[in-house]
Amino acid sequence: MKLENNTVLITGGTSGLGLGLAQALLKHNTVIVTSRRPAVIEQVTAENPGMIGYPVDVSDLASVEHLKETILNQHPTLNMVINSAGIMQNVNFFDATAPLSKEIETNLIGTINIDKVFLPLLAQQPEATLVNITSGLAYVASTAHPIYSASKAGVGALTEAIRGQANYFGHEKLHIIQVAPPLVSETNLNPTMHENGEKNPVNMKLTDFVAAVVKGIEKDKPIINPGPSKLLNIIGRFAPMGLRLRAMKGSMMTEFGKK
Ligand SMILES: NC(=O)c1ccc[n+]([C@@H]2O[C@H](COP(=O)([O-])OP(=O)(O)OC[C@H]3O[C@@H](n4cnc5c(N)ncnc54)[C@H](OP(=O)(O)O)[C@@H]3O)[C@@H](O)[C@H]2O)c1
Repeated sequence: MKLENNTVLITGGTSGLGLGLAQALLKHNTVIVTSRRPAVIEQVTAENPGMIGYPVDVSDLASVEHLKETILNQHPTLNMVINSAGIMQNVNFFDATAPLSKEIETNLIGTINIDKVFLPLLAQQPEATLVNITSGLAYVASTAHPIYSASKAGVGALTEAIRGQANYFGHEKLHIIQVAPPLVSETNLNPTMHENGEKNPVNMKLTDFVAAVVKGIEKDKPIINPGPSKLLNIIGRFAPMGLRLRAMKGSMMTEFGKK
């Protein structure tokens, strides 16, 4: 889809990948960013003239329904939704005291809520795009991030099934896209993993990531695997278990220290 004169809603648009995409699209499109903290939304929209912001908690269906009413009233031409809201925590299943984290609620149920509420609106537009952001870790689970990896594999499956439904119901001009980022350390997602992220072989610069995603959306690519995610996809499909375990062991050393 041509990335001009669209009305774009980006969840998690106040930080990291979502904000990078919001800034790139702002020049030629109406861009609406959302996240939970109104003070951050105010700051981001003040720093990026023309950007519009509303608060939402994607894990809360009532909050998403409320956002839909605002969008219907204020921005009825909405024709692109990018699901970038997400969290990532380290979880050690062998430590009985470790708290379980909330990635299923935010990353998986949050994406389900947004897709469910906004897809019927997108389907009414002459042309529209839905982007669900997964992760290279949807292909190869990160040892230190079991719940995160499960949430992202879930979003991958969700996206494929929704694409199938759009095809089944003849929505030819509704593009359903999965973006699986590699590590992009210039964000606030996970302080320990991102600390020395630029030394990680699967790290990608934010500007390069944004350029790859913009190009992929313009070409209506169903799956966008920017930079090192191509390799993670191949490892996930074809590598034997021993290699997969070795590839992801590094995350345990970073997050929990050497044994
Ligand atoms: N950076 C990477 O290396 C990487 C790699 C693979 C995939 N990803 C995925 O890319 C997406 C963006 O991550 P990022 O690195 O840009 O992280 P980030 O800098 O921490 O940004 C996350 C954004 O999500 C918002 N958010 C979190 N929980 C929310 C909720 N319940 N409702 C609404 N908004 C919420 C945050 O704002 P508030 O806290 O104010 O709500 C923030 O705007 C995530 O889905 C992440 O899993 C990132």
